[in-house]
Amino acid sequence: MEIRIFDTKEEIARKCADLFEEVIRDKPNAVLGLATGASPVQTYKELIRRVKEGKISFRDIQSFNLDEYCDLPQNDKNSYYSFMRENLFQHVDIAPENTHIPDGNAKDINAECRNYDEKIKRAGGIDVQLLGIGTNGHIGFNEPDALFSEGTHRIKLSQSTVLSNSVYFTESPMPAYALTMGIRSIMEAKKIVLIAAGESKAEAIYRTVKGEVTPACPASILQTHPNVVLLLDRAAASKL
Ligand code: F6R
Repeated sequence: MEIRIFDTKEEIARKCADLFEEVIRDKPNAVLGLATGASPVQTYKELIRRVKEGKISFRDIQSFNLDEYCDLPQNDKNSYYSFMRENLFQHVDIAPENTHIPDGNAKDINAECRNYDEKIKRAGGIDVQLLGIGTNGHIGFNEPDALFSEGTHRIKLSQSTVLSNSVYFTESPMPAYALTMGIRSIMEAKKIVLIAAGESKAEAIYRTVKGEVTPACPASILQTHPNVVLLLDRAAASKL
């Protein structure tokens, strides 16, 4: 695991965008694994700036998001579909048909999950996966559990996740379930970049880097991946 510590979120975002830019320059039709939440917003702003300046293009890029809430209309302001449109997709030259987010409202959830994994495989696998981390060590919505999960699946969100994310649900109740890529799908990415900022992430980062590899802290599995970079601010790295 490579660990890089920065003074500000802006520096984390610039470094993260540099890593994505490298992958895109090497492989203009790269497959990107994308995340939502507060952590990647600044990185997406950096990538948008670089596209507008003509430094990189998303014309031939494919993207797969980590997760989506279940039982939330696709156009709800809190859906990850809306998040991605507003924070990245509508500002760059990516083809809408090349962007993929699991459908949390699918009639047949098992078929949707299998199909999502199949689409990732058909695209050739994920070249670089962006991750945030939950205060409980979740990646994607893989919550602490007795076993590491495999492919895309439906999951009941943990109390900790409900507590962290319910601040966004001011007008409607927060969904109890989500679809998430599994730990195996995440670990199959060729490169993984995890970003974390703030004191609230310090314990999860400590367990990820120095703790036992255990599904009780899903991100700890990253210790066994050959190409992981952690981009942290001083507060998130304060327990290392
Ligand atoms: C989002 C995701 C989650 C978040 C994590 C941190 O797609 O998969 O694992 O990365 O909950 O969220 P923020 O960045 O809001 O602190």
